[in-house]
Amino acid sequence: MPLIKTTAMFKKAYEGGFAIGAFNVNNMEIVQGITSAAAELNSPVILQCSAGARKYANSRYLVHLVRAALEVSDIPIALHLDHGPDYATCKSCIDDGFTSVMFDGSHYPFKENIEKTKEVVEYAHAHNVVVEAELGQLAGVEDDVSVDADKAHYTKPEEVEEFVSKTGVDSLAIAIGTSHGAFKFKPEQCTRNPETGVLEPPSLRFDILAEIEKKIPEFPIVLHGASSVIPKYVKIINDNGGKLDDAIGIPEDQLRKAAKSAVCKINIDSDLRLAMTAGIREHFLAHPEHFDPRQYIAPGRDYIKELVAHKIKTVLGSENSAAGIMALVNQY
Ligand code: G3H
Ligand code: 13P
Ligand code: ZN
Repeated sequence: MPLIKTTAMFKKAYEGGFAIGAFNVNNMEIVQGITSAAAELNSPVILQCSAGARKYANSRYLVHLVRAALEVSDIPIALHLDHGPDYATCKSCIDDGFTSVMFDGSHYPFKENIEKTKEVVEYAHAHNVVVEAELGQLAGVEDDVSVDADKAHYTKPEEVEEFVSKTGVDSLAIAIGTSHGAFKFKPEQCTRNPETGVLEPPSLRFDILAEIEKKIPEFPIVLHGASSVIPKYVKIINDNGGKLDDAIGIPEDQLRKAAKSAVCKINIDSDLRLAMTAGIREHFLAHPEHFDPRQYIAPGRDYIKELVAHKIKTVLGSENSAAGIMALVNQY
């Protein structure tokens, strides 16, 4: 099965009220953990590489790892560039065999974002590759770029129609209160649930999402910064020598609600990092005598698999949608 674009995935996700998980990959074990969970649940998956991942692993390794995953797991997979910083990086990924690229011009003024995005769309579409762009700015840290909470701003619904029609993009990432990283909210921004004792962050701005949906009906929306920062993995890390105080993510019920709307792609990276770290830390503390990397990396991979299966079933709702997507692929 070849790598596919996200077009059929998003069409099915939109119609079916679910979302496709876009998981960041940096090495073999992460690719394996994600795709083995997706294959067991007959779920499509988007594997995405940041500019930092390409620098760390070498883009060719990542492309071949993802191709290997395709060979051993019979599910639809798209290979996507996450947060492409410029035309040259997007072009390089398109030339490398990626089926989807994000050009992230969210920090540029509106008109410049349109111009730069359009340039990428022209090259991508000429090579049968789809493009995601972004309007509005998330807080948090992504690669070398850190956006302070006071510089972040929500997507303006009145801009989306012009942006989409002038650029020709295939999907749009929006800012409605998610943010990158494992520390998305300060504890003082949250309220403690009296029954569970869990700190609950402020709600995502579903009102803005609804307005955007009205402006660009049936258009696939993307949520970045959508890790839940699952307490189980944070606790394992902290119980095994780590120190992650006040790590807070987006509650899963809010992501589920988003997945039922026009949100067709949900980006998850921090949760993978936490799961991998939890497995490795737990192993090291239990087995200080081990020094074979296979012994301690495998538990990290196992937790990634467990995490991704949980996401597919509980948050994304993409279980058993692989066959329907494959049936549609030839039309796009
Ligand atoms: O949104 C950013 C992703 O979490 C990628 O992170 O740039 O450190 O690979 P990275
Ligand atoms: P998280 O940091 O919430 O996992 O977001 C990842 C992301 O948006 C990748 O583009
Ligand atoms: Zn992101």
